[in-house]
Amino acid sequence: MARPRVLSGIQPTSDSFHLGNYLGAVRQWVPLQETHDAFYMVVDLHAITVTPTAAELRARTRVAAAQLFACGLDPERSSVFVQSHVREHAELAWMLICMTGMGEAGRMTQFKDKSAKYGEGSASVGLFTYPILQAADILLYQTDQVPVGADQKQHIELTRDLAQRFNTRYGAKTFTLPNPYIVKEVEKITDLQDPTAKMSKSSSSPQGILDVLEEPGTLRKKVMRAVTDTGSEIVADDENKPGVTNLLRILSALTGTTIADLEARYVGAGYGTFKKDVAEAVIETFAPIRERAEKLLANEAELDRMLAVGAAKARAVAQETMEKARDAMGFLPTH
Ligand code: TYM
Repeated sequence: MARPRVLSGIQPTSDSFHLGNYLGAVRQWVPLQETHDAFYMVVDLHAITVTPTAAELRARTRVAAAQLFACGLDPERSSVFVQSHVREHAELAWMLICMTGMGEAGRMTQFKDKSAKYGEGSASVGLFTYPILQAADILLYQTDQVPVGADQKQHIELTRDLAQRFNTRYGAKTFTLPNPYIVKEVEKITDLQDPTAKMSKSSSSPQGILDVLEEPGTLRKKVMRAVTDTGSEIVADDENKPGVTNLLRILSALTGTTIADLEARYVGAGYGTFKKDVAEAVIETFAPIRERAEKLLANEAELDRMLAVGAAKARAVAQETMEKARDAMGFLPTH
């Protein structure tokens, strides 16, 4: 039997992934290579919604790709590629844009959050249509499951709605309906300085975010200065102790120890001891990734070659879907 297909993407919008990206997404992607037909991409077309310079886009796309490989994605076992290398993404996005209501797109909460930053009217139209490009990414590959953090749930619901609409309107079983694949314990890693908000490259302060490619010394300082809560017990309690709870989740995910075991281990211990252990677990996880990413970035030609292999595999699947979709919608064949 064919393996179920899994697909996900990450934006090259900063110089490093952060701990939320790693725990909520990329770390789940690695074992899925063994059980699924896996496609993972650096979504550079999404990144231009916030207008990076050409040099930034180029550098960040390679840094993102290098981190994916450094985190354990294997070009032999999954297709790792850059979104813009498969032209069909933009084409299918346009077709889906024409099938999406303005009101429907306007309900996307991530657009509301992100556009608020630019001031009303100044956000690009691309930022508004961003979730529809994401729907195209997913549908092109007949994806069964999409491993993401909780913030992407609404975009996957929109993707399902659009797939269903297309299939119903054009009378063909053109697209597979995808499901989110979300690991509850790590679906929302929060900001170290504001533990009720998501750790986010666009809205967290530098002190609130732990970058995968960051120096160990800085990582340690940030964890030690993380906002903790009143009282001194180290127990999970989202309501009253969001800071400690976030750190417990992080330590649990990084060490494979349950939260209950951690709570038992730290009875009577102070926040200082606990945070030191969290910092060490983060550093131990990130150091080898950083080392591997640096090696990959030192040989750009080889990195680009690895991405070309991934793009060729992705293109084959995307082209097949697009042929079906064009024909279903009524576009004339080119030959
Ligand atoms: P992006 O680049 O913002 O984030 C990449 C992945 O990291 C997850 N994530 C988190 N998970 C837990 N806690 C956090 N604090 C946290 N912050 C980020 C995100 O949920 C995501 O899974 N729109 C997507 C990129 C995309 C995509 C796709 C995803 C484009 N096309 C197709 C899946 C399928 C995004 O902006 O991710």
